[in-house]
Amino acid sequence: MSDSPVAIVTGGAQGIGAAVCIELLKNGYRVCIADIQESKAEEFSKEQQQIYGKENVIAVGCDVSKKSDYTDLFEKTIENFKRVDILVNNAGIVEEQSPRKCLEINLLGPTIGCHAALKYMGKSKGGNGGVVINTSSAAGLVPAAGAPAYAASKHGIIGLTRSFGHSSHYDKDGIIFAAVCPALVDTEIVKKGRKNRLNMERESTSRIKFVSIESVAKAYLKVLEDKINGSILLVVPNGYHYQNLDEKLMTLISGDE
Ligand SMILES: NC(=O)c1ccc[n+]([C@@H]2O[C@H](COP(=O)([O-])OP(=O)(O)OC[C@H]3O[C@@H](n4cnc5c(N)ncnc54)[C@H](O)[C@@H]3O)[C@@H](O)[C@H]2O)c1
Repeated sequence: MSDSPVAIVTGGAQGIGAAVCIELLKNGYRVCIADIQESKAEEFSKEQQQIYGKENVIAVGCDVSKKSDYTDLFEKTIENFKRVDILVNNAGIVEEQSPRKCLEINLLGPTIGCHAALKYMGKSKGGNGGVVINTSSAAGLVPAAGAPAYAASKHGIIGLTRSFGHSSHYDKDGIIFAAVCPALVDTEIVKKGRKNRLNMERESTSRIKFVSIESVAKAYLKVLEDKINGSILLVVPNGYHYQNLDEKLMTLISGDE
């Protein structure tokens, strides 16, 4: 039995999540593809098993907005691979007509995921530590007039990542938390997103250049190599840019200035 690291990728059946799964497999990781589209995840898993070996890939059906699904996801992954080292909280939707659903999947889901990672991977709970990578978005850093609930959820991911990425959590549990913020990528969410956004005549994403899905997938590997706790990595067509916390703002809030 291999002892190479094991990653769970939510929303792994297609788009960015699928590209991240492939990039991880190429780099010797074992992967659990987790998705609400269970049969699509199964099918993708079978394809990847043929390339990377049956023992290195599994698929688990999971709705990230449900705590019990996260429990099931971690337990099935551990039962199969005997360990979990990485959680990629990647599943997401654009659905401005249903802001509750958008926030439940995009923000509550990763929040439950971070707690599950602490429970199953945290050193204080007998685990080995590891890495959690949350998929935020460029819309987690700047406004998106046509998608306020989506932007709120992705801004929330930044707060979630920086808060769990504080050294006090790392000292206790040995888990690095980081976020990747892709700019526009040509996937289903963008195609479907056009009708799921608010109808803003003046806002247009049609002039924004796409980032290649391959360079977005490689950003997750970069985060795994760089291992900077609390880091936020923006991915744009010209490359990768870490977004530093505004130290002046921190000083202002602490009242030291
Ligand atoms: N495509 C972009 O331009 C872009 C830019 C920045 C960030 N993102 C983020 O990247 C992530 C992946 O999106 P994508 O572009 O690959 O879109 P996508 O629609 O192709 O993939 C999303 C995946 O999430 C899954 N999913 C949806 N709801 C789920 C749930 N409740 N539980 C489990 N899985 C669920 C879907 O089945 C799908 O496989 C999302 O978080 C998205 O917000 C996308």
